[in-house]
Amino acid sequence: MARLRVSWFCMMLFLLTSLVLAQTQGDDDDYDDAFAPEPSPSDDGSPAPVADDMEAPARAPAPVTEAAPSSGEERRALVPALFAFGDSLIDSGNNNRLFSFAKANYLPYGIDFGGPTGRFSNAYTILDQIGDLLGLPLLPPYSKIFNVDKMRFGVNYASAAAGILDITGFHFVERIPFSYQIKNFENTLVSLIKNMSAPIVEEAIPKCIFFVGMGSNDYLNNYIMPAYFTQDEYTPQKFAELLVHQYKEQLIKLYDLGARKFIIAGIGQMGCIPFLLAESSNGECSEIVNQMVHPFNAKLKTMIMKLNKSELPGAHFIFLDMENMFKDIFTNYKSYGFSVTDRGCCGSGKNKGEVTCLPMQTPCPNRDDYLFWDAYHPTSAVNLLLGDMAFYGGPNFTFPMNIQQLATL
Ligand SMILES: *[C@@H]1O[C@H](CO)[C@@H](O)[C@H](O)[C@H]1NC(C)=O
Ligand SMILES: *[C@@H]1O[C@H](CO)[C@@H](O)[C@H](O)[C@H]1NC(C)=O
Ligand SMILES: *[C@@H]1O[C@H](CO)[C@@H](O)[C@H](O)[C@H]1NC(C)=O
Repeated sequence: MARLRVSWFCMMLFLLTSLVLAQTQGDDDDYDDAFAPEPSPSDDGSPAPVADDMEAPARAPAPVTEAAPSSGEERRALVPALFAFGDSLIDSGNNNRLFSFAKANYLPYGIDFGGPTGRFSNAYTILDQIGDLLGLPLLPPYSKIFNVDKMRFGVNYASAAAGILDITGFHFVERIPFSYQIKNFENTLVSLIKNMSAPIVEEAIPKCIFFVGMGSNDYLNNYIMPAYFTQDEYTPQKFAELLVHQYKEQLIKLYDLGARKFIIAGIGQMGCIPFLLAESSNGECSEIVNQMVHPFNAKLKTMIMKLNKSELPGAHFIFLDMENMFKDIFTNYKSYGFSVTDRGCCGSGKNKGEVTCLPMQTPCPNRDDYLFWDAYHPTSAVNLLLGDMAFYGGPNFTFPMNIQQLATL
């Protein structure tokens, strides 16, 4: 198989510019507080952030366990809480305070949210939509949690540039690999148990949903990058085996910590992101990359279905077939109301994918017409659609059941 060489020049240009600009951005606190479930009396009483108003109507909190205090009129949550692990597709601010090149804490990220948050989107992520459909408020990023009140509905541990392998994304400097995200969840458990007692927490955790979406960076920011030399060591098949083997150990760790209801998201049509379209000579999706990623998705689905059947009693796993969801969106983009499929809404160069969205860059005005927000990430409109597909979809998208069914088991 031909070796894919991503353009080092573009990557370095992007990294250097991001370094200079991202490190000079102001703190994001104004917006991040908006993720907390209702402020408690012990909060510092600072003025309400802009983004608060935007979310208030749709997202009323409900208690994490029967023991937690209930607050007036609330939407019925289908599960006590949602814990999420992943990368930039769902990071909501965990990288903001890391020394990292992978940050989205500057405008125009968040332009349709009320301001930047750390989400790599103009507004929402797929996780935000899934949480909303579950009846939960927006999850706070782990890095912003200082008291148990803020974890009542779950926590988001996702970190941009992170992978299944610890080494993945190292050229972005700091990031939180999946294994460390699991350690952070352990810390959360310790705090919850201290606050509410072990029996209450142990009863609630199996009813919670664990969303895990890892692997994209193990390809994008490891396997296809010559500097990692991973392709010299592994064929795509062997690399997929390595990833799925390690992923399995990590998921078992979560099971050992009490998790029972899992949503595992596969990798999308990675060869079609503007960053790779810009590398393509004929303007088509990179079939090399799509073919490279496919064995991972196939082996992952097989692995989690086996885990469910024999190895982990009482566990329920569902597989989100992101590949099929993206194929469906690419094929039927017009009927979904999109018109631009081959370029980022914010970015520069070929396909607006050579250099991703930079601080204060002007994005396209008609963002809901675009599939891609920047060189790597879908628009909020696509994320909402993906969330709906995952929540209500049939077996081609979410197997063996959808999230709505998983939640009500
Ligand atoms: C639990 O956390 C809440 C909110 O942070 C706090 O008010 C309460 O005192 C804590 N209870 C215990 C037993 O630590
Ligand atoms: C997973 O296991 C549960 C029982 O624990 C069962 O109801 C469900 O059908 C299983 N799913 C698959 C795909 O085997
Ligand atoms: C599901 O996938 C199968 C095979 O890939 C295909 O034939 C079928 O049309 C798909 N169904 C839907 C609803 O997309």
